[in-house]
Amino acid sequence: MKEQVLVSGGAGYIGSHTAVALIEAGYDVVIIDNFSNSDMGAVEGVRKITGVEVPFEQVDCCDKEALRAVFKKYPFKSVIHFAAYKAVGESVADPLKYYSNNLNSFVNILELMKEEGRNNVLFSSSATVYGEPVELPVTEQTPRQPATSPYGNTKQMCEDILRDTAAAYEGIKGIALRYFNPIGAHPSALIGELPRGVPNNLVPFITQTAAGVRECLSIFGDDYNTPDGTCIRDYIDVVDLAGAHVAAIARLVEGKNKESYEIFNVGTGNGTSVMELVTAFERVNELKLNYKIVGRRSGDVESVWADTALANDELGWKAVRSTDETLQSAWAWEKKVRGL
Ligand code: UD1
Repeated sequence: MKEQVLVSGGAGYIGSHTAVALIEAGYDVVIIDNFSNSDMGAVEGVRKITGVEVPFEQVDCCDKEALRAVFKKYPFKSVIHFAAYKAVGESVADPLKYYSNNLNSFVNILELMKEEGRNNVLFSSSATVYGEPVELPVTEQTPRQPATSPYGNTKQMCEDILRDTAAAYEGIKGIALRYFNPIGAHPSALIGELPRGVPNNLVPFITQTAAGVRECLSIFGDDYNTPDGTCIRDYIDVVDLAGAHVAAIARLVEGKNKESYEIFNVGTGNGTSVMELVTAFERVNELKLNYKIVGRRSGDVESVWADTALANDELGWKAVRSTDETLQSAWAWEKKVRGL
């Protein structure tokens, strides 16, 4: 029998790409989502790409009894927990919304894993836990910095909840994957990033500006201490990122983990500035982007990119897609969404 994996938030951006990657790697997948920031389109996209009628349940992970019914119905041993709110600014304005949703949903998942005897869990963490890093590139040993937003705090708290849970209860093993900046879309253009309202993140803002949905991209600051003055990030193709989840699940399923709780950086190891990304987007897609330089965005860190040696060595995984092809896939997806 195939190994089954529950993917919470599987209708979301990273969840849907991971569902595809798991199915392509031979896993059975069950998707749950409450559609708070997604819709059935992504589930249909996953089914179309894979040709598999992936089971889907519309469930909110904060509803423990509804979640229990999913645990009773499906025999999965592994869970990938993506379901969470992720807008930094909103979390500052409405912190209780973030603490309530992001913490309760994860605690419910872990309690049910314990109660129902399930073993393996991956948690979607973020490079945001490093704050303004004390060293570059950042390794998993680089100290976390105090969170600068409730959103970031929920990532740190959930990491700690997983660490303590995996230490205390025999049979539960966990991995936190610290994502750098996921961008791009599936090459089929059947799934991709679909932010509601004005995008917070750079690449959806770029593609929406190119599509004429937004008038002008604002580049937040060109007076940073970097070669061109704009911030530097580690942009990773979402399909590569999805592959890291498959490798991490395999590590747990095959019992190759060295500790009950492990952390891996998931990035490319390369830093790219905002200006370099904008210029590359224009070049590979042969268009001109309307942009202007504005003041810094509060809370932004200057530079962050990953040391990926641990993930490369221990997970046997490496990001392979070029930024150019990723920026092409991002634009192909935006065009598809807009009917261009
Ligand atoms: C942000 C969050 C991070 C979260 C991640 C999720 C902050 C401070 N960090 O990361 O916690 O895990 O999203 O994807 O919000 N930029 C512009 N113009 C724009 C948008 C962005 O110049 O319209 C710049 C930003 O200043 C930054 C870079 O683009 O230098 C990347 O920004 P973004 O995509 O929002 O990601 P992060 O801020 O790195």
